[in-house]
Amino acid sequence: MTRNYTFYTAAFLLALVFTGCGQKAPVYSNHPDIPAKVETLLAKMTLEEKVGQMNQYNGFYDATGPLPEEGDARHKLEHLRNGWVGSVLNVRGAKATRELQRIAVEETRLGIPLIFGLDVIHGHKTLAPVPLGEAASWDMQAIEKSARMAAVEATAVGQNWTFAPMVDITRDARWGRVMEGAGEDPFLGAHIGVARVKGFQGDDLAADNTMAACAKHFAGYGFSESGRDYNTVDVGTSTLYNVILPPFLATVEADVKTVMNSFNTLNGIPATGSAFLQRTILKERWGFKGFVVSDWGSGREMIPHGYAMDLNHAAELAANAGSDMDMESYAYVKHLVALVQAGKVKEEIINDAVRRILTVKFELGLFDDPYRYCSEDREKKWLYHPEHQQVALDVAKKSIVLLKNDAQMLPLNRAQNIAVIGALANDKTSPLGSWRIGSDDGTAISVLEGLDALGVPYAFARGPELVTGPLAFSTELEFNTTDKTGMKAAVALAKKAKTVVMVLGEHGLQTGEGRSRTDLGLPGLQQELLEQVYAVNPNIVLVLMNGRPLAIPWADEHLPAILETWHLGSQSGHAIAQTLYGLNNPSGKLPMSFPRNVGQCPIYYNHLNTGRPGPGTDVFWSHYMDVPNSPLYPFGYGLSYASFAYANLSVAVKEDGTVDVSVQVTNESEVAGAEVTQLYLHDRVASVARPVRELKGFSKNHFNPGESKTVSFRLTHKELGFFDNNGTFIMEPGTFDVMVGTSSQEGLSATFDVK
Ligand code: NOJ
Repeated sequence: MTRNYTFYTAAFLLALVFTGCGQKAPVYSNHPDIPAKVETLLAKMTLEEKVGQMNQYNGFYDATGPLPEEGDARHKLEHLRNGWVGSVLNVRGAKATRELQRIAVEETRLGIPLIFGLDVIHGHKTLAPVPLGEAASWDMQAIEKSARMAAVEATAVGQNWTFAPMVDITRDARWGRVMEGAGEDPFLGAHIGVARVKGFQGDDLAADNTMAACAKHFAGYGFSESGRDYNTVDVGTSTLYNVILPPFLATVEADVKTVMNSFNTLNGIPATGSAFLQRTILKERWGFKGFVVSDWGSGREMIPHGYAMDLNHAAELAANAGSDMDMESYAYVKHLVALVQAGKVKEEIINDAVRRILTVKFELGLFDDPYRYCSEDREKKWLYHPEHQQVALDVAKKSIVLLKNDAQMLPLNRAQNIAVIGALANDKTSPLGSWRIGSDDGTAISVLEGLDALGVPYAFARGPELVTGPLAFSTELEFNTTDKTGMKAAVALAKKAKTVVMVLGEHGLQTGEGRSRTDLGLPGLQQELLEQVYAVNPNIVLVLMNGRPLAIPWADEHLPAILETWHLGSQSGHAIAQTLYGLNNPSGKLPMSFPRNVGQCPIYYNHLNTGRPGPGTDVFWSHYMDVPNSPLYPFGYGLSYASFAYANLSVAVKEDGTVDVSVQVTNESEVAGAEVTQLYLHDRVASVARPVRELKGFSKNHFNPGESKTVSFRLTHKELGFFDNNGTFIMEPGTFDVMVGTSSQEGLSATFDVK
């Protein structure tokens, strides 16, 4: 028999307060005083002022999306003074935020403070690895600390709301935004999302160094067809409930204060206009108490989607569907008052949105001190703080993944004569990644600086340039595919060296929003450079710098050592150099599969079986003619300078249906290291087919040389069950396979039955 678990509905037990006219109003804060304060303020507000709270403008400096014609700063200031602006994004610095806050507080009728939003994605000034890289650490404490560091820096410059974490599950490396998420797995993604929310929001949202987080993009954005950004999303209900939604649910359960909707349509309905997503799932089933912000212009974009007739219609659809705040569409500020007066949007919908927004503002302490986040003293103290460099270095070291290490080529010997080749080796900007809006170019430690700090001898040749033309967040990057200047010198240097360290990959601005690719190889002239160097000296350590999985079958076949270092942030060069020389033992594991070639995308380990899984002896089984089905490097994969052995898998099914699993892990090497032990389940037969394997537990542990530890997991209905096609969480008795080991493809297996 199927058991039902009503996680969803239980969450929406809201206490009630009485409004002035005797009606009961929903309560969106657990704080004893805030709901009443919200009601008192709401009662004083005109309809225009209420709609104003639902309007968010881009600031006056940077744009992180296309500006509509109305995007003129003069209108915005006038609107701000009229009380028609509830939030501003992309305003930089304590001084600038303070001045806008002063206008909101001193020059508007009710003096309601602004909430300032910014994409504080993996740090503010000091940057940690891009989120996909950080996810490779599988270290929740390090990830939480990194988000805490980001909040301390961002809140010192007036920000009190970050548009992070992005909890979109991503299976397609063509999509540039894979760098901003935690990869392909919903279980890992949920844990990481929660760690980031905790780091940003801390224990006390009203503290001057914590900020509201935002789980985005609700929902399905990671499934853009063919990996092209902003494209259509068309997924089945099982994928929606079991893959896309769980990380959002986890962050809602962790009290994330805001959720951002997404640009995409989901089964034909733009997310911004989807009452199913924003009302039924998020607010009703899950009891989400915060507010929903649209993505940049996503209200307006319902027009080209073919869902709204015009901006007026877009405002009506979005407000009714539960999109509480409009980011840069100008839809609400222009049309919502008239829509309410015409009876097309009920005032109760407006009240509900405003209640949610005001609640977050009260919880941030903005009504007690609207300037608490705008302190030039704190700005001076915290930006690039030395303690933050340590936090960034720690997580950077933990995020590196060793992909290949034949004949223990790594770590390098200090006495070795090495040649370092590649423009990225001397790049102080690229390692900062794409989302670095608060930071400054040229502030990353380069690989060469990292080697200098260790005092190791090396000679450097840049090779051909990677990119040509200007580099900017909002413009297309141009690759150098023709100018081979530097190629010969690099090859000549390689010829003389014992070992060559080649630093190749993607430019930091080659990943992120609007940066989809159809070729996942090394861009520009880098593959040619690699092969030319190989021809004279095959002792190559390839250091990859990139923000997405790359397809590098040639490198895997020919090179003895490959180190995945992502875009590793401010401390990149130190982390890489220390790893190359064994002062850091790599412990990262891939959060996303690396394909053999782009034709395999989307590729992910937790797929369903087909009816013809094979391998067969004829052609009639599910396969490619030219490459195996498997990825080049699977999810969860990553080597170490240590070597870990797994033994004694034990599984005990308890009376109450919980299952205890343990395994013995031994470091059989002479160096200390950390290992991420991973547990995967397969539910053999279910009323909705289950994936061949799903991550349901992980544990990262440090091991001294020779040390052995028992690593234990407890599986409850939460791990054993799944969402049916109505979105109900169920658990079905039956036979399960469990695998515990070092990656999604390697471990010890057992089988158990649950009654
Ligand atoms: C659009 C992006 O999709 C979103 O993630 C970001 O937070 C906003 N722009 C604001 O910059």
